[in-house]
Amino acid sequence: MKRISALAVALAIALWALPGHADPAAGEAAFKASDCTACHYTDGPAKEKTIDDQLAKKGPELWYAGSKFQKEWLQAWLQDPAPIRQMKFNSVTEANPGDHPKLAAADAANVSDFLMGLTSDAVEAGVVKPKKNAKGRLIFTKKMPCSGCHQYEGRKKKLMGGRSGPSLVGVGKRLNPDWIYAYLLTPEIFKPVKAMPVFVGLLSEKDMKNVASYVANFK
Ligand code: HEC
Ligand code: HEC
Repeated sequence: MKRISALAVALAIALWALPGHADPAAGEAAFKASDCTACHYTDGPAKEKTIDDQLAKKGPELWYAGSKFQKEWLQAWLQDPAPIRQMKFNSVTEANPGDHPKLAAADAANVSDFLMGLTSDAVEAGVVKPKKNAKGRLIFTKKMPCSGCHQYEGRKKKLMGGRSGPSLVGVGKRLNPDWIYAYLLTPEIFKPVKAMPVFVGLLSEKDMKNVASYVANFK
């Protein structure tokens, strides 16, 4: 009995994964129909928008979602959106209410296919590999103030770090390592309204790669 149900599950997964199942055009339609556009831009880049344009939306820009996220994470998160930022987007005082809209599984598959098609030329593929990068760790925890604003897991999974930036716990499953580097290297392209300090000039490109590699290894 156990064996049969395991087979059924495997078969269902195999059918699900058949090419052509998820549909970006259907995803774009579902994105609009679910009113995602009320809170998110899907056209970029950020530097072409004024602060007022950006404040007109209550959520982060998604025009480079396909360069920023890992598809599996995105598809799962859209169905069960646990808070990423501890503070409400763009606020330094209000806690994140954790009330992000949820999508049903079929819509999440199509919408994540649509979003993964939105990419930025500023992100070069294959530059950063996730590693227990000792130099990156030193930069993140000591040399630069990264950990003052970002939560991460220290020894024995102890939660450490600040709350003003997005949590970096689980980044290894969530973010594209090459996007983290591009975000440090060309912040003006991705700049959110509540921006983080610019490290251009403070960190060499090599050290940006080191710290991106270290962060991309967070479990
Ligand atoms: C009422 C405004 C609102 C609506 C409607 C909304 N979102 Fe969001 N979205 C947000 C906010 C705020 C965040 C930041 C959440 C966090 O950090 O935990 C967010 C985060 C996201 C993220 C992660 C972005 C990042 O850079 O961290 C994705 C992907 C996303 N939303 C997709 C969607 C989709 C798809 C829909 C439609 C089903 C949708 N959102 C509808 C406000 C909204
Ligand atoms: C003063 C606070 C502050 C410091 C210091 C800081 N950050 Fe940030 N960081 C932020 C804010 C604010 C954002 C973007 C907020 C948003 O999108 O809602 C951000 C975004 C990020 C993101 C993208 C996360 C995501 O899910 O969108 C990464 C990765 C990141 N920072 C890494 C770093 C690294 C590495 C350092 C050190 C070299 C650093 N940060 C230093 C505040 C900070």
